[in-house]
Parts: sequence; structure tokens; C-alpha cells
Amino acid sequence: MKFNINKIEQNRLYGELSHFYPYVIVREDYEPEASYWHSILKYYFPARKVKLLEMASGPGYLISYLSECVDAEVVDLSEEMLCQCGSLNPRVKCHKGDMRNIRLENKYDAVLVHDGIGHIDTVDGINDVCVTASAHLVQGGLFMLSPEFDADEFTKPMIYHVTRKTPFGLLTIIDYINKSSSNTNILQTTTSYILDNEEGTNFDFDSMTLGLFGANVYKTSMEKAGFDVTIDRKPKDSSGETRTVLIGVKK
Ligand SMILES: C[S@@+](CC[C@H](N)C(=O)[O-])C[C@H]1O[C@@H](n2cnc3c(N)ncnc32)[C@H](O)[C@@H]1O
Repeated sequence: MKFNINKIEQNRLYGELSHFYPYVIVREDYEPEASYWHSILKYYFPARKVKLLEMASGPGYLISYLSECVDAEVVDLSEEMLCQCGSLNPRVKCHKGDMRNIRLENKYDAVLVHDGIGHIDTVDGINDVCVTASAHLVQGGLFMLSPEFDADEFTKPMIYHVTRKTPFGLLTIIDYINKSSSNTNILQTTTSYILDNEEGTNFDFDSMTLGLFGANVYKTSMEKAGFDVTIDRKPKDSSGETRTVLIGVKK
């Protein structure tokens, strides 16, 4: 039987398969880098809690480790992800919207996009996210961008697999990630979820189309939107496939 990934529905992990999310991406994986983000925020805002907006927050795993130093609000496209975020972070205000065009009334000290910018797969889209970040920041505010992948570091197809005990049964996750054959700025992920329980073995499939850009593409978009940009590296045991981080200060 042939299997065509173009026929698989996209982003089901953020919707109908969102009950698998905590077993696919584990909250504890975000803990090692929390002290890195804490130190950046303390460096720029030494004396007080930071008013932070996270865009594409997912379930808010990272901010759950930053509650000591931030008063956070979040934006995400997915109601299911916002619901998980609200349960984990009860004091965080959640907004449903698209980070390319949402406009909230408030201004913030810092905007964070962490393991979320990959969902934007065109340079125009990245430009829009940077303009949205700028629109929500006070002058001197910080835009912190932490991409999942860096095109300069992605060399060959990747396979990731893990088996975890879940309340639904034994869940095996197999992820295949590769560049699109028709566009080198696109990564295609194909994921199989194999669930074993007393009802038998059930297969579910998901696919995501992600942007694959180098740090300089993000830097240029941020500069165009009016940021002074520094490229930094997260600690070795951080989440994501790259340690590249971009820090922009709104001029
Ligand atoms: C991997 S999660 C982010 C994880 C998060 N950094 C954490 O600490 O838990 C990526 C999220 O991006 C969201 N997303 C994708 N495209 C978006 C867009 N255009 N605007 C807002 N959110 C988006 C998805 O719904 C998903 O919840």
C-alpha cells in the first residue's frame, strides 16, 4: 500500500489529537532552558516582573517555569492548546488569534515566540509576525525569537521515535522530518501515533508544514520591523533542534 503524505490532514496535534500533546512534547523538556530565559529577562528588566506576551504559546510549558519573573498573556490559534495553557497557568490571560495579524489593546515589555515560528513558512509571514511583535511592545521592549530549526544546521532527514505510557494506552510516536522536494525553505513532518490498548492497535497520522530559514532571514525581518538584533545561543540541553535565539530591542 502506498502512502502519500500530501493526503494527510495537517496540525491534528493542536486539534483533535491534542490529548496526545503532553506525551509528544513533555513539559519537563523545557525546564533546562528556563534559567537562560530568566537571565535574559533579568538582564533587561532587573528590578521588576516583566509584562510578557507569548505568541504561539501552545500549552505554555516554558512560561510555567517563568512565573516568578513574568506576568504573562498568550496568543495561540488553537482553542485546545489555549485550554491546556489555561489549566497549567491559571493566572495567564489567553487570547485566540494568529500571530501574523492579531492586535491586542495592551502593550508589553517583552514578546516571546518560542518553538512556534516554524509554523510560518514564508518570509512575508515572518515579516508579519515581527510587525505584530513590534505593535505590542513599548519602546525599548524585547522581542525574543527561538526557532525550532535553523536552515544552516539542517543537513539530512531526521527520524524520532518514543514510546510512552498514557491514560489511553501505550503510545508510540514516530516522526519523520525532511525538506520538501520542491521548496528548500519548507520542512515536512509526518507523524504516526500508534496506540495499543485493550481495544487493539490503532494508527493515527499527522503532518505539519514548517518553514526552514537561516538565522539571518529572521534577523533581517526583525530589523525591518524596527529592532536592533543580536543572535545568541541557548544552552546545550534546550528544547528544539537548534540553539539559535534572536533577541531584538525595539528602537
Ligand atoms: C510547539 S507549540 C509551542 C510550545 C510553547 N513554546 C511551550 O512553551 O509550550 C506551537 C504552537 O504554535 C501554534 N501556532 C501555529 N501557528 C500559529 C499562528 N499563526 N498564530 C498563533 N499560533 C500559532 C500552534 O497552535 C501550537 O500551539
